Amino acid sequence: HPAPLIDPFARAIRYLRVSVTDRCDFRCTYCMAEHMTFLPKAELLTLEELDRLCSAFIGLGVSKLRITGGEPLVRRGIMTFFEAMARHLQSGALEELTLTTNGSQLAKYAAPLAAVGVRRINVSLDTLDPEKFAQITRWGRLNQVLEGIAAAKAAGLRVKINTVALKGFNDGEVFSLLDWCAREGHDLTFIEVMPMGDLGNENRLDQYLSLRDLRAGLATRLTLTDLAERTGGPARYMRVEETGQKIGFITPLTHNFCESCNRVRLTCTGQLYMCLGQEDMMDLRAPLRSHPDQPEQLEQAIRAAIARKPKGHDFDYSRQVIGGQMSRHMSHTGG
Ligand code: GTP
Ligand code: 5AD
Ligand code: SF4
Repeated sequence: HPAPLIDPFARAIRYLRVSVTDRCDFRCTYCMAEHMTFLPKAELLTLEELDRLCSAFIGLGVSKLRITGGEPLVRRGIMTFFEAMARHLQSGALEELTLTTNGSQLAKYAAPLAAVGVRRINVSLDTLDPEKFAQITRWGRLNQVLEGIAAAKAAGLRVKINTVALKGFNDGEVFSLLDWCAREGHDLTFIEVMPMGDLGNENRLDQYLSLRDLRAGLATRLTLTDLAERTGGPARYMRVEETGQKIGFITPLTHNFCESCNRVRLTCTGQLYMCLGQEDMMDLRAPLRSHPDQPEQLEQAIRAAIARKPKGHDFDYSRQVIGGQMSRHMSHTGG
C-alpha cells in the first residue's frame, strides 16, 4: 500500500468531497447569485476522468467519498459514476459513498442510489413553509423536495437534513423543523451561514445567526446533552433527552473545527481546494490528462497539493467584520 495522505499539520486526509457539476436547479440566496454563468460543458471533467481521479484518491487512503455540486443529481449520467464508485465499496477500499443534495431529483434517484450501496444522504432544507422555501431557493417547490425525501426514506436511505440558520428567516422554525424530523425519523444539522459568493446588496452579517444562540433558544424548552460521536465531518452532535433525537451543529464561525480537518474538495473541473475557506487550489486536470498512462504523475500532484493544505479558514464574525470573505460561490466546491 502507498503511504496515506498526511498534511503538514499531521492530519490524515481520508474524506474527499467531489463536486460533479456547478449547476443547480435552485438558486439558494446564500449559495448562488440569481443569474449565474455556468461552466461550458467542455470544461468539465468527463465521468471517466472523475472516476480515474477519485480512484487515485481512494488508492491513497481516502475512505469516504461525498458527491456534491451544484446539485449532483442534475449531472447527466450521474448513476454511471455512482456505479463506478460502488466498485470501491465492494472491494472494501471505500467505507462510505454518499451525497449532499437539494432533494429535487430524489424521487427518481433514491432507489437506484440505495441499490449501488449509498446508505446515508444529506438533504438541504431550510424551511417547511412553501412560500419561504420558494423565496430562499428563488423558485424551488417544497413539495417536490418533500416527495424526494419520502422516496429516500422508502428506499431505506438514512436522511440527514441540513438547515442553514438564517436570522429573521428560519429562527422561528427551529422547533417545528425539529418536530418534523423527529416524526419522520431524520437527523437534523444546523449550519452557520458562511461568507461566500458575491453578496450584491445582501449583507451576510445581517443574516448570521450564531448556533450558540440557536442552541440557547432550544435549551429553554429542551434538555440537550453533548455527544462525543463524530461522523468524520465537522458536525458536533447533541441529544434531545425528551425525544432521544440527535441534532448536529456545524459552527465554522463560533467554533473552529479545523484542527481535526480530514477532507479536501475537488471541483468539477479538477481543481483541488485544500480548504473551503481559502482561495488556494491546485489543478489536477492537467496531470490527469497529460499522462493517462502514468498514474504516478497524478499521485505526485495530489501529494504536492496535500502538502499545501493550510491550517484552517479565516472566517471571523466576532470582530463584526467578515474576515476572509470569498468571492467564490459555495456551489463551486459543494459546501
Ligand atoms: P457528514 O458529517 O458525513 O454528515 O457530512 P458533512 O456534514 O461534512 O457534509 P455536508 O455536505 O452535509 O456538509 C454540510 C455543510 O457543512 C457543508 O456544506 C458546509 O457548509 C459545511 N462544512 C462541511 N465541511 C466543512 C469544512 O471543512 N469547513 C467548513 N468551514 N464548513 C464545512
Ligand atoms: N453558508 C453555509 N452553508 C451553505 N451552504 C451553501 N451555501 C452556504 C453558506 N454560504 C450549504 C447548503 C447545503 C450545503 C451543500 O452547503 O445548505 O446544505
Ligand atoms: Fe443549489 Fe444547494 Fe446551492 Fe441551494 S445550496 S443553490 S440547492 S447547490
